[in-house]
Amino acid sequence: MNVKKDHRERAIRHLMSFNLSPDSLRVVALSYLAVGESYFFRDRETWEEISKVVPSEREVKALSVGCSEGEEVYTFSFTMSGKVSFSILGLDLNEERIRRAVEGVYDSWKLREMTKREIEKYFNSVNDGFRVKDEYRSGVYFKVSNVLDEPISGTYDVILARRVLIYLNESGISKMLEKLLKAMKEEGVLVLGKGEVYWQVMERFEPFPVGEAVFWRKKRQFIPDEMEERMVEMTFPHHAVWEKIDLIKDMINIGLYEEALRWAKEAKKVKGEEAKAWKYEILALTYMGLSEEAIEVLREARKKFPFDEDIKRLEKVLT
Ligand SMILES: C[S@@+](CC[C@H](N)C(=O)[O-])C[C@H]1O[C@@H](n2cnc3c(N)ncnc32)[C@H](O)[C@@H]1O
Repeated sequence: MNVKKDHRERAIRHLMSFNLSPDSLRVVALSYLAVGESYFFRDRETWEEISKVVPSEREVKALSVGCSEGEEVYTFSFTMSGKVSFSILGLDLNEERIRRAVEGVYDSWKLREMTKREIEKYFNSVNDGFRVKDEYRSGVYFKVSNVLDEPISGTYDVILARRVLIYLNESGISKMLEKLLKAMKEEGVLVLGKGEVYWQVMERFEPFPVGEAVFWRKKRQFIPDEMEERMVEMTFPHHAVWEKIDLIKDMINIGLYEEALRWAKEAKKVKGEEAKAWKYEILALTYMGLSEEAIEVLREARKKFPFDEDIKRLEKVLT
């Protein structure tokens, strides 16, 4: 993994001071070394529809697992304020991110998906950036917690677990999902990142689309494989793979090269005329040590996109 030396050494010193199981050690290491970046109103479709899937007659209890610096927790607060009463607890294993979440001051890059009107509505401009207004902090809580190792207290109407399963290996994903299943109310809703789908999720939850968004609820009954496949195809039609494209970068960042390659190939089938999928395929192959195959794809890409600067740079590096 390509990580700056000082960052890596600081991370190793920190990690040695913890007493963690091998599974957790892997997750913590990845969170230190990989990009845990987030931003407000990420996956806009989700925020447009979420108020339709929460109970309106009582207080909504929400949980955000892997909340990073609080961006999705406050986005939830912005979206729900004035509509329903709610509380939301954000959990993240990274202490520094939770400290920043509590502080609630962000630079403009985190607000890149917001309109000027939204920014004025939800933030006060302060010296070092934008501070979430006090009225949107009510009912919002944060806690440092490694959700894989520590119990989740309470049960929730909404659980946001977006781009957190990506950090885990197969058994970690199953363990995390079991915990979320138990922490979810019977009629509760699970929210994953746009385009995120894992077979372990399909075993425990069923998708239900609302508008352009997809939510998940506890699986109610046995669904025959064939029907399940059709449901997945309806929920994530083949063309939707393109939506996953930026997850490929996260996968490469945290070393899931095979998964990244599989997705890049699929994305290429859907939008082969876009250079992005080709670049990810080349990167994944390179990280896997398959340099001959990478160069072969690179040659084709070079012909297809003769003016693409990234592809030219890749050519310089690889050949
Ligand atoms: C890529 S960020 C996702 C942030 C946000 N959910 C989003 O989708 O924009 C993933 C976050 O999950 C956290 N994380 C990873 N594994 C975790 C675990 N086992 N328990 C708690 N947090 C975890 C990381 O520290 C990181 O801040």
